[in-house]
Amino acid sequence: MKKTPIIALDFASKDEVMRFLHQFDEPLFVKVGMELFYQTGPELIQAIKALGHDIFLDLKLHDIPNTVSKAMEGLAQLNVDLVNVHAAGGRIMMERAIEGLRKHNPDIKIIAVTQLTSTTEAQLHEEQNIQTSMEEAVLNYAKLAQSSGLDGVVCSPLEATMIREQCGEAFLKVTPGIRPQNSDANDQKRVTTPEEAKVLGATHIVVGRPITQSENPVESYHQIKESWLN
Ligand code: C5P
Repeated sequence: MKKTPIIALDFASKDEVMRFLHQFDEPLFVKVGMELFYQTGPELIQAIKALGHDIFLDLKLHDIPNTVSKAMEGLAQLNVDLVNVHAAGGRIMMERAIEGLRKHNPDIKIIAVTQLTSTTEAQLHEEQNIQTSMEEAVLNYAKLAQSSGLDGVVCSPLEATMIREQCGEAFLKVTPGIRPQNSDANDQKRVTTPEEAKVLGATHIVVGRPITQSENPVESYHQIKESWLN
């Protein structure tokens, strides 16, 4: 899997995605989320793959083990590079997700969402009835994902350090909430720069609007890539 920043393709249509990608003359690592995938389906994935890019298909699967396993068999045939599930689906669901993927593609990495960053500690306690701190809840799911055989988690850079301490360097920590120095945080609440994310233990960063909404996306991408990789 490439180490370059993962560009979140949060666009409304296939045409917009293609216009954006055609500005680049190098292989990229991009993220396709639910919004886009549910409108454009596998056809878009094939078109992006045909351009030689790696894909993180961010669909956050969460269902009974058999359904997730069969869904993963389908995603594996799209030859994406990274997929994810909710750790809340449990150990058996995660094991069956891996089994489904491996039937068609031994190389796809799979990571877990622990607690969504939109969930507050009050919601954790009152709605989910989990009576620990958010940190403990996140760590619990990270360890469960690891012992179920997953390759890593999606997390905030601010959680990456404790996950590195508990789950090791090789366990993937894919972190959104990244903003270059002095750029607009948009609706992200707690942001870090690419350099800070690296120090904190992120193994991959996900960056959307600072690149996709930039006046010069290629230049913005290169600046972020350099500060992340160097
Ligand atoms: O534009 P921006 O850089 O904020 O985009 C970040 C991307 O990462 C978006 O696609 C967003 O949905 C996703 N994401 C996030 N926070 C999470 C999980 C995913 O921002 N906890």
